[in-house]
Amino acid sequence: MGIKVGLLGLGTVGAGAVKILLDPADRHPLLSQIAIAKIGVRQLDKPRPVNFPAEVLTTDLESLVTDPEIAIVVEVMGGLEPARSLILKAIHHGKHVVTANKAVIARYGDEIFTAANEAGVYVLLEAAVGGGIPVIQPLKQALGVNRIQAVTGIINGTTNYILTRMQQEGGDFEPILAEAQRLGYAEADPAADVDGLDAADKIAILASLAFGGRIKLSEVYSEGIRQVTAADMAYASRLGFVIKLLAIARRNTHPDSEEPLDELQLRVHPTLVPLAHPLAAVNDVYNAILVEGDPIGQVMFFGPGAGEGPTASAVVSDILNIAATLVSGQGSEITAKTANPLLACTHQHYCKISPMADIVSRYYLRLLAEDRPGVIGKLGLCFGDHAVSLESIVQIGLRDNYAEIVIVSHEVKEAHFQTALDDLRGFPEIHSVASVLRVL
Ligand SMILES: NC(=O)c1ccc[n+]([C@@H]2O[C@H](COP(=O)([O-])OP(=O)(O)OC[C@H]3O[C@@H](n4cnc5c(N)ncnc54)[C@H](OP(=O)(O)O)[C@@H]3O)[C@@H](O)[C@H]2O)c1
Repeated sequence: MGIKVGLLGLGTVGAGAVKILLDPADRHPLLSQIAIAKIGVRQLDKPRPVNFPAEVLTTDLESLVTDPEIAIVVEVMGGLEPARSLILKAIHHGKHVVTANKAVIARYGDEIFTAANEAGVYVLLEAAVGGGIPVIQPLKQALGVNRIQAVTGIINGTTNYILTRMQQEGGDFEPILAEAQRLGYAEADPAADVDGLDAADKIAILASLAFGGRIKLSEVYSEGIRQVTAADMAYASRLGFVIKLLAIARRNTHPDSEEPLDELQLRVHPTLVPLAHPLAAVNDVYNAILVEGDPIGQVMFFGPGAGEGPTASAVVSDILNIAATLVSGQGSEITAKTANPLLACTHQHYCKISPMADIVSRYYLRLLAEDRPGVIGKLGLCFGDHAVSLESIVQIGLRDNYAEIVIVSHEVKEAHFQTALDDLRGFPEIHSVASVLRVL
């Protein structure tokens, strides 16, 4: 009966998806035509939060992805392997695939979408970025007529939770990370989140959709939040900013004419965000993605970036989309020519990514220096020598017997700012460069 799906994984997201599929009342009527044929797990005897016939569970994942009865394979197991191989095997056996796995898509999207196009199947991934927030489908469809200029997101809930608490409580990173781990908001190994790698995976996926080309993950610059301190939070606040981990994908424009160039910036780093900016109010584990396009202007997607229900909502909406093409007869034996271009991934070329040295940004800098006259003047001259003009330079007070100086620059090329920084690190009056952050 109906359309048969097989799930790889019955953890947080898998169980959430099963709950929706087993309880279709008052949701889209097509849901009642979708049946769960098999669910692949590691352990058969583990207690499960959902009830279904015992024979549905299997540890034989190969048989699930090759089962002729199954039309859609839903990969919600996570990790790189065997997830990647199973997705590819499912595709080679003519299955459509739904996945929540940003790590696999950001690294192997090229291989997976090439295989999917050859096999004439769809691979949908709404849950891979922004959890429950519908952003992938809007980028492909509702915003598809726009020329996208930038996608800027808070797309990692763990780091947003930590930064929000640091801002609200004036606490430092380490104790708040430990508390987040205790509360289950951060993993025991937090590296992927706090070092910006998870956000890098996600912005690579968003950029690929927004700018219609493939992205090499190694070209995404990523810097995490470990070096953000309570002092920076406090100074940012006095200057009218909050600090957020932003993931930014932006098309470069010609410096004089503003004409769009065939080159993108792709970067993840802690950023001072002006308080009046819409992303400044996105707190705790929430995610938001601001899309700027021509002619729409700015549109922001906001919501829960993770969790069982929200993520399952995104997964099942992908299943529903594929089911709709299957019941309308468009899903059988699709080819590159007949595939629905609003569902398929057709681009093959790689986007050109500009080096970080070429980006233009404002910078926030905190220095500890000898408390003696003339230091501020010397700093001003050094920046001037490297074409860095300063918006503000203030000595706030003393820290550890050193004068604490906070500088905000005007927009400047990263390369110029970094050379000025290298020079002033050599000044005998400078004790240390306590922090350098970019300003939105
Ligand atoms: N959790 C979220 O809020 C969230 C949000 C967005 C995206 N995602 C993505 O969704 C995916 C799933 O996340 P999750 O939080 O649901 O993970 P999870 O709770 O750890 O569940 C993983 C499931 O996959 C099964 N599994 C894992 N490796 C397996 C293997 N080698 N063989 C057989 N079964 C295996 C596990 O089986 P057992 O139950 O037998 O151990 C478990 O049922 C990940 O890619 C994640 O990045 C999650």
